Amino acid sequence: MDWNSDILKNLAWNATISNRESKQKVAEQIAAKVKDGDIIGVGSGSTSYLAILAIGEKIKAEKLNVLAIPTSVEIALTCSNLGIPTTSLYEYKPDWYFDGADEVDPNKHLIKGRGGAMFKEKLIMTASERNYIIVDNSKLVDVIGSKFPVPVEVFPSALMVAEAGLKKLGATEIVLRPATGKDGPIISENGNLILDVKFEHIDKDMEYKIKCITGVIESGLFQNQPAEILVA
Ligand code: 5RP
Repeated sequence: MDWNSDILKNLAWNATISNRESKQKVAEQIAAKVKDGDIIGVGSGSTSYLAILAIGEKIKAEKLNVLAIPTSVEIALTCSNLGIPTTSLYEYKPDWYFDGADEVDPNKHLIKGRGGAMFKEKLIMTASERNYIIVDNSKLVDVIGSKFPVPVEVFPSALMVAEAGLKKLGATEIVLRPATGKDGPIISENGNLILDVKFEHIDKDMEYKIKCITGVIESGLFQNQPAEILVA
């Protein structure tokens, strides 16, 4: 039996979406890839949001059976609102995955995690057969880390251990990400803290080195996850 719930009916993306037109174009490119029976990993952020809206329309118009594996509560609720059934890695391996990014360099290395969802994003991307990163061209950079810090999700009581480890790796600035609209730090969906870390230089092994710090759950540096980059 379906829920007879009103809560999700008014769910909408209230934040302004930058470069909306470009993001919409690349969202439609992603929707065009959807086939009946697909199990799709769904990233988070505004570009992924526009893509899942476009996918929702295609599913309705063509009466497709699709399952989504969401990377955040926010995107899970959007799927629910659109009538797209969700599942998890316990049940299925995704056929393909799509997601946005904050930075993409010429080696296809990424910085992700402005929305703090990078742990599940990397997990579902790693499990997936094929990956698409969808960006507008403001996300393309020559040098990774030139615009954004690297988000690092840290187990709360490991905060100082992680800070010391990140300094050893050459961190020049470490900020404990604040919660929006209230005092104190943001708490991730996994119950952890997020550090935003600037480095003097990010070498090709930095993702691995950050991951080796005890207490680090995951970082938003993606250097080892093959993906096709679709640029609007
Ligand atoms: C969330 C992410 C997003 O994909 C990234 O921040 C890009 O967001 P947007 O599509 O809103 O520009 O990694 O954790």
